[in-house]
Amino acid sequence: MIPSIKEIRLFLRRLGFDQGSIKELIEQIEYFETEAPERDDIVRDYLRNECIERLVDEIVKEVIRLGRKDVRILDVAAGSGFFTERVKNGLESRGVRAEIYGLDITPSMLKRLKKKGITPIWGVAEKIRESIEIANEHCGINAPKEFDVVLSTLAFHHFLKPEAVLGSMKEVLANGGKVVIIDVLKHSHSEFKDTLKDTHLGFSLGEIKEMGSKVFGKVEVRPLGLHCEVDGVLIGLYRAVFA
Ligand SMILES: C[S@@+](CC[C@H](N)C(=O)[O-])C[C@H]1O[C@@H](n2cnc3c(N)ncnc32)[C@H](O)[C@@H]1O
Repeated sequence: MIPSIKEIRLFLRRLGFDQGSIKELIEQIEYFETEAPERDDIVRDYLRNECIERLVDEIVKEVIRLGRKDVRILDVAAGSGFFTERVKNGLESRGVRAEIYGLDITPSMLKRLKKKGITPIWGVAEKIRESIEIANEHCGINAPKEFDVVLSTLAFHHFLKPEAVLGSMKEVLANGGKVVIIDVLKHSHSEFKDTLKDTHLGFSLGEIKEMGSKVFGKVEVRPLGLHCEVDGVLIGLYRAVFA
């Protein structure tokens, strides 16, 4: 079951968000409700095919480095599941069975995940463990408490409290597991705060390293040498792996 906006307001209160944060989160949901039907095309527009393949390959290789035949994966802020589905297929074509879940705050994104055969979890990135408890209780799913890989693509700059998200990811990471984040590098296009509902204008490699080091023992951050193109503007991408 996918929750309604009314239920989501109740869940956000139960998760302990204050009125200001609830307002901001609802604004994110309203924006992404309208983006959801077009999200797959938007990703194809932002990134060329070879760039999409490289991105998926980066994630798949990182998962394979765990050396396991079965992995539980959580995609945080999975959106329409564009990358979630490709990562699952990429792993399975290399003989790794992936039990993969997509967590997102926006109901229409969850519907698209479900259509792609990915178990949708309604939830907030800043409070993953508690969100999964609520989703298991109210949405008729039985998602695990821990995952071997927690990943997130093109979403980190949307989070209200990115540092809290890293702590929240760590809480649901199984022993020996890793977090893989791909997102946009810092830029100066403040118009994206309005046009794309971006909360932050990306992060520099130094900022990501500093945030990651506060939460994780192992921190590896590097530029991908890839760009996404938004409204004619090129924005660089980075890859961060935390364990
Ligand atoms: C730019 S889209 C990225 C979607 C997907 N990861 C991709 O690569 O196409 C950002 C997603 O983050 C979700 N989102 C924003 N803030 C969130 C939060 N605090 N917790 C969970 N999801 C959130 C939105 O609903 C939206 O689906």
